[in-house]
Amino acid sequence: MTVPLSTWLQTQHSDMRQMLGNIAGACKVISNAVARAALSGAQGDAGSGNIQGEEQKKLDIISNDIMLNWAGACGHFSAMASEELDTIVQCNPQGRYLLVFDPLDGSSNVDVNISVGSIFSILRAPEQTPTEADFLQTGRQQIAAGYALYGSSTMLVITTGTGVHGFTLDREIGEFVLTHPELTIPNDTREFAINASNSRFWEAPVARYIDECVAGKSGPRGENFNMRWVASMVAEVHRILIRGGVFLYPKDSAKPNGKLRLLYEANPMAMIVEQAGGASSTGQQLTLDVQPSQLHQRVPVMLGSKNEVARLIRYHE
Ligand code: AHG
Ligand code: MN
Ligand code: MN
Ligand code: MN
Repeated sequence: MTVPLSTWLQTQHSDMRQMLGNIAGACKVISNAVARAALSGAQGDAGSGNIQGEEQKKLDIISNDIMLNWAGACGHFSAMASEELDTIVQCNPQGRYLLVFDPLDGSSNVDVNISVGSIFSILRAPEQTPTEADFLQTGRQQIAAGYALYGSSTMLVITTGTGVHGFTLDREIGEFVLTHPELTIPNDTREFAINASNSRFWEAPVARYIDECVAGKSGPRGENFNMRWVASMVAEVHRILIRGGVFLYPKDSAKPNGKLRLLYEANPMAMIVEQAGGASSTGQQLTLDVQPSQLHQRVPVMLGSKNEVARLIRYHE
């Protein structure tokens, strides 16, 4: 029986239903903007930089505006924060929630037609006007998290704390349809994802783990592992949700806190991964337990099949 997102959302309380419904709408519009970029002149750099020191793509800014407008229209967010905005933006003073998002994840891939995505996280808002400090909540305080993957199909993957559910966009009816209920990550895997060009910077526990993965039949892990690296976190996490795996963006001598941002990459993905039976760690602690200190702070990320993350945590002890 086909279950459209709008029907599944009936299982959620009305605020959540409206917030997720609007976010889903934003993801449909972003999906179209990404798919049509070469036709609409939206490829390439915007000629501006973000607070992360990154060169912004035109689509980073286009996606950011779409998310701000579509999510803001539901009226439930009192403030929002984005990878592409230096600081928070005030929305509806009556709103009881905060939205944090990465409007276009993996945007270095967008001009070469490799999968990109959007990542979002919903937190509770304070009674009074939100400040940046109100966003500095641990990942355990998220009430919902999800991502859209603009790949060979466009998918929306959501958790509100009772499992992880995947919806595929049926363009003929313009609706996301439940295609992957109760996504769960296999506990074991033979597939790892890391940017191996950073290997000269790795710390000993990461170097040991990767060496063991690639040591082949004579090594301690026996048969070979496969390596994957898409350079879009959303694509890597989705692959892991479907068939298992472990994804690492660790800290190293060149990036003392790793590369990925806690509030709108690591935390939403960690909630999804834990809800799907996997694990996510910084190497020192579980991602969801990290107490944020800055809006755009970076954390090391090791997430995926729980037995592999447990091994990595042991190597870091
Ligand atoms: P974003 O495009 O939102 O800035 O995120 C890119 C991130 C993440 O999606 C990906 O896993 C990682 O950067 C890739 O990093 P490298 O380019 O260093 O491989
Ligand atoms: Mn970026
Ligand atoms: Mn990102
Ligand atoms: Mn981004």
